[in-house]
Amino acid sequence: MNTVTVNASKNYNIYIGSGLINRCGEMIKNELGVCSAAIITDDNVNRLYADRVIASLEEAGFRTVKLVFTHGEDSKSVATYTDILSFLAENQITRSDMIISLGGGIPGDMGGFAAATFLRGIKFVQMPTTLLSAVDSSVGGKTAVNLPQGKNLVGAFYQPDMVICDYSALDTLPDEIFADGCAEVIKYGIILDEEFFSFLKNNDIKENIEYVITRCVELKRDIVCLDEKDTGIRGILNFGHTIGHAIEINSSFEISHGSAVAIGMIIAAKGAFNTGMSEVDLTETIKEVLIKNHLPVSCEYSPEKLFDVACSDKKRAGGSITLIVPEKMGKCVGKKIPVSETLDFIKAGL
Ligand code: GLY
Repeated sequence: MNTVTVNASKNYNIYIGSGLINRCGEMIKNELGVCSAAIITDDNVNRLYADRVIASLEEAGFRTVKLVFTHGEDSKSVATYTDILSFLAENQITRSDMIISLGGGIPGDMGGFAAATFLRGIKFVQMPTTLLSAVDSSVGGKTAVNLPQGKNLVGAFYQPDMVICDYSALDTLPDEIFADGCAEVIKYGIILDEEFFSFLKNNDIKENIEYVITRCVELKRDIVCLDEKDTGIRGILNFGHTIGHAIEINSSFEISHGSAVAIGMIIAAKGAFNTGMSEVDLTETIKEVLIKNHLPVSCEYSPEKLFDVACSDKKRAGGSITLIVPEKMGKCVGKKIPVSETLDFIKAGL
């Protein structure tokens, strides 16, 4: 088992190992004490792992209650959020109790935002069961719910008190969901660590899962500690995401987040080189690693369609957009460009 410590507005440990679900009760008890634990999860993860989590918690002396919502983005709503709050109140969860989010990014965000706001903040444990949530959303304290007007419009920065990542849970992930997480893994190499990127080029992610998750979490930890509230350097974690988000929306979310980010990273790398923002052309080397991990590297949308979504809120104001671009392998920077130049950037990247 590896341990990564985060020293942000809260200090907490991230534990990465196999079989931790069966030991979670003892681990949480040792670190945070015994209390009532409200488990927040979705129906898929509930079926696979909730019984084992509850058995371990109860064996360690916790009282447990569980709220299960339907998996999928539609549940990341204000309605589910208020259901969780009512559930916590009805089950007499107090300020000394905790929420445990079990699952991918959506249970993580829902449980995290409820923990941040119920009784003005209660203890919060993340137990990620997808690669994406293990390397990204379970670390760093971003929590949010969607509004009909857009994604993640209501939320809070609220660091967990503990993260328990049992990577044996990734064994049950469908291949395309695992690949989704691989896009974020590869992103860390491109933006922060050339050596890690070379490792990914020469090695298999699944076969090296403990090291891969640990390295990603360390890299994210370093950025979060520098810029917890996302006003500067943390923005580089969005490499590939601005155009990726435009791809997701153009596909009506048929193209998954990870696939869209993979294509977005290619467009950003190629666009940066072809417009002279970057002196090196990383397109082919990034493509190679994405393809090896079963991720797409191109899409059928026109530059105009991508531009319309990427800049929809900024066009009227005649503003600028910050694109994350590679300077070299292992180093990305944010470049502010006028909206009027963004279409040419996307054209250069396609
Ligand atoms: N997922 C990007 C961040 O945590 O800032």
